[in-house]
Amino acid sequence: MHHFRYQDSKLHCESVDLANVTREFGTPTYVYSAQTISENYRRLKTSLAGLDVQICYAMKANSNLAILRLFSNLGASFDLVSGGELQRVQAAGGDVGRSVFAGVGKTEAEIKLALEAGVYGFHVESEPELARINHLAGKLGRKAPIAIRINPDVDAKTHAKITTGKSENKFGIPLAHAAAAYEAASKFPHLDLKGVQMHIGSQLTSAAPFIESVKKVVPLVQELKKRYGIEYFSIGGGIGIVYQDALASGEKTWWDAKPESERPLTPEAYGAVLAPLLVSLGLKILLEPGRFLVGNAGVLLTRVEYLKQGQGKNFLVVDAAMNDLVRPAMYEAYHELVPLTQDAARAELKADIVGPICESGDCFAKDRVLPTAGEGDVLAFMSAGAYGYTMASRYNTRGKPAEVLVSGDRFELVNAREKFEALIAGEKIPGFLKT
Ligand code: LLP
Repeated sequence: MHHFRYQDSKLHCESVDLANVTREFGTPTYVYSAQTISENYRRLKTSLAGLDVQICYAMKANSNLAILRLFSNLGASFDLVSGGELQRVQAAGGDVGRSVFAGVGKTEAEIKLALEAGVYGFHVESEPELARINHLAGKLGRKAPIAIRINPDVDAKTHAKITTGKSENKFGIPLAHAAAAYEAASKFPHLDLKGVQMHIGSQLTSAAPFIESVKKVVPLVQELKKRYGIEYFSIGGGIGIVYQDALASGEKTWWDAKPESERPLTPEAYGAVLAPLLVSLGLKILLEPGRFLVGNAGVLLTRVEYLKQGQGKNFLVVDAAMNDLVRPAMYEAYHELVPLTQDAARAELKADIVGPICESGDCFAKDRVLPTAGEGDVLAFMSAGAYGYTMASRYNTRGKPAEVLVSGDRFELVNAREKFEALIAGEKIPGFLKT
């Protein structure tokens, strides 16, 4: 559910007419709904009531400082994957002491930064990483809190590029090696065995792979609790969202109309099946959701530049491009596209929705049917709140788009559109090229 809907034929985010946002800040612009994020957070938290749950928001999904502060105000901590993300948490006033540090390639500098900042747990992905963290903790005279990431070899049945829990993926330590890895870790003098972690993939729309992986790992968790007194079990993130009917899914009626068997995974269903498997562990349960919390809470507004008639094909050329929202080009991801102004009188148009970047991959959708649009019309890509701006680049020397946060009838720019000067700020022409 989310707070994007038409009021008097104008697309609103909460009580803000999005036309006012484009008038003030132009396009392409990401717009996020604070209320949607807060509600998603509370729903997920409530779905596992009865357990000692800590939500570590996977900030790679959307790491704007305003979004991080919102999560921090809600009581969330963070799942971070780089020194840069750690510094973002600090800059936003978040609690690093309750946050976890994941990733297969943590550098010495990053580990040192995280030790000094006092992260709650390092999520360790390999034996050599255990040795490196131990060594650096020793040098700083500290004990490093760690959890080993277990790869349960479960098929998450999602896109190949975002599945992580199969044995052929680079992530984690195989379940069969886990006991030995903990045994080895327990011998390191500067490591404190705090927990167990797993994460099987992203955009999961059914509960079955979650259930399968939790069931597979629980016996190990029980054993490790007995042996080392670990205090938490992180079951990762991965809850999927609705992309296909994104706008309609904002309404409760859309969900109610779906038979139980066809309903995409909800936090309530997730909690209902997982809580019984976890409650008897008597451990703190960490969740690392990213997409579920912010995905449907954001849109990318874009303006039509041209409607180009090709041979037997129409191209709707918009001012957003793959550098702003790469998911369609990278994962063949579907993002619904809706007009800012509803007009039932407009005929339907079938077109490829393309950006201005000089490659054919810069295509948001093929043969998409939508109400006829032309130069100057503004459209919204739905479900763009997760892995949108954070994956943006400056390809073709295009500054990254603006970001706006809405709360009720207020909206504020939370990230200015990048100017050309910022794009070239680090570059210089060396003396030997100057004549
Ligand atoms: N925890 C770990 C260890 C992760 O690797 C991830 C995501 C998450 C949590 C959060 O997963 P979520 O709840 O958001 O599904 N760029 C891709 C998604 C990559 C996900 C990477 N890891 C996309 O746009 O679909």
